[in-house]
Amino acid sequence: MHNPDWWQSAVIYEVYPRSFQDSNGDGIGDLDGIIQRLDYLVNLGIDAIWVAPMYRSPMADFGYDVADYCDVDPIFGTMQDFDRLLKEAHHRGLKLILDYVPNHSSDQHPWFMESRSSRENSKRDWYLWRDEPNNWMSNFGGSGWEWDKQTNQYYYHSFLKEQPDLNWRNPAVRAAMYDALRFWLDKGVDGFRVDVMWLIVKDDQYRDNPPNPNFSLDESSGNSLLPVYNSNRPEVHEVVAEMRAVIDSYPGRVLIGEIYLPLKDLMTYYGQDLNGANLPFNFLLLQCQWNAQTVARVISEYMTMLPQGAWPNWVLGNHDNARIATRVGLPQAAIAAMLLLTLPGTLTIYYGEEIGMTNGLIPPEDVQDPAEKKQPGIGMGRDPERTPMTWDCSEMAGFTRGRPWLPLGSDHWVVNVEVEEGNGTSILSLYRRLITLRRTHPVLVGGQLSCLTTLGDLISYERAAKNERLVIFLNFGHSPIQVAAESGIVLAGTDSRRDTERVGNFVELRGSEGLVIKVVS
Ligand code: GLC
Ligand code: CA
Repeated sequence: MHNPDWWQSAVIYEVYPRSFQDSNGDGIGDLDGIIQRLDYLVNLGIDAIWVAPMYRSPMADFGYDVADYCDVDPIFGTMQDFDRLLKEAHHRGLKLILDYVPNHSSDQHPWFMESRSSRENSKRDWYLWRDEPNNWMSNFGGSGWEWDKQTNQYYYHSFLKEQPDLNWRNPAVRAAMYDALRFWLDKGVDGFRVDVMWLIVKDDQYRDNPPNPNFSLDESSGNSLLPVYNSNRPEVHEVVAEMRAVIDSYPGRVLIGEIYLPLKDLMTYYGQDLNGANLPFNFLLLQCQWNAQTVARVISEYMTMLPQGAWPNWVLGNHDNARIATRVGLPQAAIAAMLLLTLPGTLTIYYGEEIGMTNGLIPPEDVQDPAEKKQPGIGMGRDPERTPMTWDCSEMAGFTRGRPWLPLGSDHWVVNVEVEEGNGTSILSLYRRLITLRRTHPVLVGGQLSCLTTLGDLISYERAAKNERLVIFLNFGHSPIQVAAESGIVLAGTDSRRDTERVGNFVELRGSEGLVIKVVS
């Protein structure tokens, strides 16, 4: 790699600020809490923190309904706290990436309040107003159109009615939203994760969406139509390229896109001549079936379809999806960690993944997520993956001295940083060892990925550069397997007791065991 950008070798750590660390006892995580835990993150070895929205917000969707793009919500702290977070992070060599929510604002944003005040208002056209609704749905279920009785028109919202969609065909909207980017870039933030990047532009003729032939009644009504005309419109790429140009007018910043689309479409978000997102999030590992065949297939499809010069990235979890340890079970969560940290490109870790946090059980009376409240009982809720980070063995797991906004995971007495820190065979120690390995062996970041093969439950592949060749073996099954190998030395095992072991012509892997071996010829 010649002069790589910092983000190319980065491990990014997603902090969901409500759930990371509470500093003032109100049960809700805040910016000061993040500052208190920066040394933990340094110790973990990550390079950058992505903080989910901490902007001023009525919290209808917990911060993804922004009422002021250039201010901090009092629940999270003050602008001084933010400035301190940025300074303290940078001081420790950590980058800070913010969330950016361009598709919609809060209905309490002054822009929308003006827009809805009259049809003649100069901001009327900043949002999507129509006399008649079409059939577009909200991603949280139900019609996406809300009747406004004061001005007798409907406005469109891709999510809650409290989240009206901005009109990105209006140049004034674009200018105002790019100013918001510059506000934070001027402060020195290192980049943005762009919320629902593929939804930003809608069909200018408002054509009806066709029915989804695969829709079944037990899923969200938001899936009943194919989102042909309200998502992934060709014009979106022009907007993304403009965002990228804003970012690129500052040195050393990164643009990441949240995009849930099939691979072929996802790849277009790198942009024409790579003028789009630096990293369109790759959610394949977060969505695929967990078995050797499928995982190997999606990895090879992704690598094959990457445009020339595009930089890969990988994600196991985030604040909208079931936690990996719940999805695949704890033993396989170690395999997932070893896989993630030995794949090429930029990686993202969701807070708590590194200690094997599982989905919390949320009793009905504790449900917070509007997605669950709107369509209860069909698995839409995201509270389970948002339970507080578990730091220690105290009653509230070190997260708060008050009552946490979501219940702690029931396993918090054993799944926490304090317990795992003292245990060399914990998943936390595995994450630390693998992150260190990645730093000390750049071949894991930028080397060729080759020889990706499966045999039964086994996946193996090589990461190689001119003077180094690593072989990775991952057992996706629960039974032991013997594998033909080349002689070498174990750099990291999911079981730390195998580190530095010499291997000969074959190795034995126990169930759910993985090894990174350096070939010594
Ligand atoms: C993104 C966010 C999700 C939010 C939605 C609407 O998918 O990750 O949490 O609810 O956008 O902003
Ligand atoms: Ca707090």
